Amino acid sequence: MKLRRSRLYVPGNNPKMIPPAGLYCSDVISLDLEDSVGPEFKVDARMLVSEALKVIDFGPCTEVTVRINPLSTPWGKWDIEQVVCEKLSGIYIPKVESVEDVIQVDEMVSRMEERKGLERGRIKLFATMETAKGIINAPEIARASKRLEGITIGGEDLTADLGGERSADGLAINTARSLILLAARAAGIQAIDTVYSDFEDEEGLRRETTMIKKMGFDGKACIHPLQIEVIHEVFNPTQEEIRYAVRVTNAIERARKKGSGVIALGKKMVDRPIALKAERILARARAAELSIPEIEEEG
Ligand code: COA
Ligand code: MG
Repeated sequence: MKLRRSRLYVPGNNPKMIPPAGLYCSDVISLDLEDSVGPEFKVDARMLVSEALKVIDFGPCTEVTVRINPLSTPWGKWDIEQVVCEKLSGIYIPKVESVEDVIQVDEMVSRMEERKGLERGRIKLFATMETAKGIINAPEIARASKRLEGITIGGEDLTADLGGERSADGLAINTARSLILLAARAAGIQAIDTVYSDFEDEEGLRRETTMIKKMGFDGKACIHPLQIEVIHEVFNPTQEEIRYAVRVTNAIERARKKGSGVIALGKKMVDRPIALKAERILARARAAELSIPEIEEEG
């Protein structure tokens, strides 16, 4: 399981923020060429990011990605040409509205891999839906390419497109969040939530992250290093959850030996969906290198 709890945006035209970005240990870094970079800085940012990818060591814990401009802009095509390299793990495609938007990027990445002598298919893609049209087409988009490992939702742009307002309860975008999650799960890929923009409001971030984790999301984008730890805290299973997951797995194993798929653990029934949840918690714990106790129980 690839851990993508936190995904830190780093503005692609900021030579001060890019070099130390790996020190914060987010699971993903997205060097951004899109909305955090004004049109007059696009070309410089692309050069800075492609150089940074070659020379900067972002450390072992981070998957290094770039958010390109959409191919419908004058910059998207050149972004792909320049950023595809050995050290690039993935590309986030913004404002995806159709299957075609993903296929075009996929094909260009393939051409670049070939031209640059890179391993075919290693660079992953992630599609961000941030318009009503994109959200509605999410189920097909999520299956558009073998490279696609996740889909994400862009909260600010989507809210603007819908004519709603961003609020703590997420009223304007929660239906879209559910649709993104359903589309991701149906395609067997990850779902990653949008940013929480007020980086000084730790409690607000914790509340929103807890909500989207309960919905089933795999991670959340962020804009400031301060947000990473909060997001990891919310996504990491607690010791109590891990212990319970171990007990569930043990109980299911005991049931299996007796030829059954269901068993009681304390006063609760344990069956397949509970076992699947336990497996997911243990996979997450292992990926985050949390300690997993061994628990002996009478069967
Ligand atoms: N990536 C890397 N480093 C970051 C960072 C980021 N996204 N945001 C802040 N930092 C660094 C700063 O450089 C500073 O480093 P220093 O202590 O070595 O000087 C430290 O974290 C503290 O930053 P702070 O002073 O609190 O914030 P700021 O005023 O410098 O920056 C923002 C605030 C919002 C401008 C900045 O966080 C940012 O640009 N975020 C990303 C925005 C973005 O990419 N948006 C597009 C996607 S929605
Ligand atoms: Mg956006």
